[in-house]
Amino acid sequence: MAFREYNVGSICFGIALAGSMMITIFFPTGDISNIPATEISLDKQLTYGYESGFNYWDPFLNGKNKPLKVTLTKDPVTGQPMDKTVAYVFKPGVKFPNGIYKPRILGHGPKELSERLGRISAADDSKGAVFVIKHGTYKGKETPYIENVTATKGWQPEKVLATAGDANTSYAGAGKTMFIREGCWWCHTLLPEETQDWQTFGRPPMTGDFNGESPTAFGSDRKAPDLLHVGSRNSSREWMMLHFFNPRLVQPHSIMPRYNYLWGKTDAHGNPIDLAKWSKEYQEFYEGKRIYPPEVPDYRPDSEIRYLIDFVLNLK
Ligand code: HEC
Repeated sequence: MAFREYNVGSICFGIALAGSMMITIFFPTGDISNIPATEISLDKQLTYGYESGFNYWDPFLNGKNKPLKVTLTKDPVTGQPMDKTVAYVFKPGVKFPNGIYKPRILGHGPKELSERLGRISAADDSKGAVFVIKHGTYKGKETPYIENVTATKGWQPEKVLATAGDANTSYAGAGKTMFIREGCWWCHTLLPEETQDWQTFGRPPMTGDFNGESPTAFGSDRKAPDLLHVGSRNSSREWMMLHFFNPRLVQPHSIMPRYNYLWGKTDAHGNPIDLAKWSKEYQEFYEGKRIYPPEVPDYRPDSEIRYLIDFVLNLK
């Protein structure tokens, strides 16, 4: 019988479809509060802020309205030296991450500790706030939580930024917006898999690493190295500068596009950046007419490339 195969095929397909519908309908849905936020997810939420997609407060994805991540070695109130502390600064008006507005999504444990010890409910986004990540004990288990140090210690956003200084301030939050806007995820993933990936790209993430992160930027499919832990294997700002200005400066056969326009119109010393001239000189270098490629300009501290590099180096 010529059509028997179709019969068998459609019955198998029916069973598969019905089976998957059964799973969808009858299995209990995952309750996010049963998956406690890990320290990684708390760090991500506080680094990236509320959201890094299209929204009405940053419609052109310029990286506005983002928190700043600072490293302090002095207490911003007393000025006394203290152990290296990472703090997340939200200037007045910058939206807090999901976990602060809806602590339920932090999961049991981080939620209770962040509310009771960390006083996150006292934070007010119109006044700004500073947060740090702490560890406490919840039901006998070590649990990370968020502390609102503006409420507990009186750390004010402007004071904390001034104490840290620009050199110890990371714009990784705004950098994630650049990562999304520039379509880096078209080639790169932020998701090492549970395969041999482990050996090349490092530890795959766990479910709790994503609480409150929006969007996750896993990537579409992989045409280039995974970047989830890239800052641990390459922490050179200079390498990143060369590579983003023109990837061929460091990887002769790279297919990665140039991102030289993220430098903006002027360099760190106020000199105009002439991309056409640069490309002409690079072409001469490529053709063997000059020995060295042209110099890559230093970027301004408020340039988009600084945001992007801060983001990439923060991927540890
Ligand atoms: C057309 C695909 C493509 C796009 C788009 C792309 N990259 Fe790449 N990228 C690559 C390839 C291929 C490599 C490996 C060769 C190299 O180093 O240039 C790479 C390498 C890198 C590396 C070094 C990785 C390592 O393991 O050391 C970083 C960092 C990086 N890219 C960041 C970015 C960022 C940030 C963006 C967006 C602004 C981006 N890339 C966009 C293809 C791409």
